[in-house]
Amino acid sequence: MAVRENMNVMDELARAEEVNAQLRTQRNDRWYPGFHIAAPAGWINDPNGISFFGGRYHVFYQHNPYAAHHANMHWGHVSSTDMVTWRHEPIALAPSLEADLDGVYSGSALEHEGKLYAFYTGHRWFGEEIGSRQVQYLAISEDGITFEKRGVIIDTPEGIQDFRDPKVWKMGETWYMVVAAESLERRGQVWLYTSQNLTDWEYQEILFEDPDPGVFMLECPDFFPLGEHWVLLYGPMGTTPTGYTNRNAHNSGYVVGNWTPGQPFEPLTEYRMLDWGHNFYAPQTFEAPDGRRIVYAWMGHFVSPIPPQLTDGWSGQLTFPRELTLTPDLRVASRRIAELAQLRTETIDVGPLELGAYEDRVILPDGDLLEFELEVDLAHTTAERFGLRVHATPDGAHTLVGYDRTGQHVFIDRRLTGNGDRGCRAAPVNDALRLRVLVDRGSVEVFANDGEEALSSFSFPNEGKCSVTICSEAGTTAVGTLRIHRLRSIWDRDDGGASPPEV
Ligand code: FRU
Repeated sequence: MAVRENMNVMDELARAEEVNAQLRTQRNDRWYPGFHIAAPAGWINDPNGISFFGGRYHVFYQHNPYAAHHANMHWGHVSSTDMVTWRHEPIALAPSLEADLDGVYSGSALEHEGKLYAFYTGHRWFGEEIGSRQVQYLAISEDGITFEKRGVIIDTPEGIQDFRDPKVWKMGETWYMVVAAESLERRGQVWLYTSQNLTDWEYQEILFEDPDPGVFMLECPDFFPLGEHWVLLYGPMGTTPTGYTNRNAHNSGYVVGNWTPGQPFEPLTEYRMLDWGHNFYAPQTFEAPDGRRIVYAWMGHFVSPIPPQLTDGWSGQLTFPRELTLTPDLRVASRRIAELAQLRTETIDVGPLELGAYEDRVILPDGDLLEFELEVDLAHTTAERFGLRVHATPDGAHTLVGYDRTGQHVFIDRRLTGNGDRGCRAAPVNDALRLRVLVDRGSVEVFANDGEEALSSFSFPNEGKCSVTICSEAGTTAVGTLRIHRLRSIWDRDDGGASPPEV
């Protein structure tokens, strides 16, 4: 039986690679990222199994190798020695068994006794009337590339349909797992399991239930220590937007609390957004060998209007990796990892400068992979709003990234963005204004005050050269620092993932 299943897996993987390589030849690169992880072609969603194994960083991801929409989920795979230069690896996991035939869903991975253990959700879908069946599955790899599926480790609890996204970690001699579950009362819960050997798992307790009775699922839970506390990160489904919180169809946030194994989790904070942009979901963290807590998230969405990439043969990317820290007032700050500096090819120092009221000044005539550092002296600034028009094309289309002093928030405004969804997103920020902005061909990420708040959104420019302008509205702006860094691609063959991996 095992041999037959493995044969099927090999067939499935080979078929997926073949179709994906074909799709890649048709890829339109106008918005394909240069310094963000994306599938060579097809669809990508959640980051999975982020780990350090065999001297390399591994990022797996939810992947449909056959088309640029969500279906037929596999685990795609990239690896790196330094977290900035990546190579595509062969697709790691494909649906092949009774339990995962409708999708190898999200999960995590860790090293144990020289092997990489991957935990994922096997998904079955039996139609609207019957619904789904989801189980937790184990697959093991000797080399970090090829996996052998080992069987169901946690079966579906009686009556439960939505039960997914295992995140596993070790403390002392015990392994712990959090899994998202929709309870029989339709409440969003995170369940805790423990194991002494990684194959036999014991249910412990409901670690957390969302206090909002409208919330029915907490997708992709992650639970980890940060500073003196513990952070529970999740994607609540069924929320109602309030202000700029939870405005997207899919949102990610966290609560900070105290936890000791064997004791209940005691939240100390309310739910708060980890990122306030349009496209940030399913974040997953891992502990790097040097102890940093690093997060990757998916930039994309499931809802229509469908991202324009659908016509381009690919869809979705991951955020640039971010290091998480806890602020004294128990907020989770995220800043892009320091390694990004290794991607810089040129630095242009533009500041300091003084902008007049309604002044628009071009600071870069052309560029696609960019990092900006902007520091504004608020004490000497009278402007109501100031910011950078990025992805600005000669026809006037652009995305405005800036600070609204009156409303006290940092924003990404896509009202005039060339393509795709529009709308504005904002994060509360009330003083000491420093912005770091990452601009790729189809995305913008903004970090305010050293990562105190972050926003990530798609931004699909119109055709033509993309310039960048700095602007000041209804008053003057005193810019202290303005630095532009041109960045190189993250792909080690510098081919944007164009050459197929050796299978
Ligand atoms: C979140 C999610 C997960 C699931 C996966 C399926 O984006 O819905 O809950 O495991 O995506 O692709």
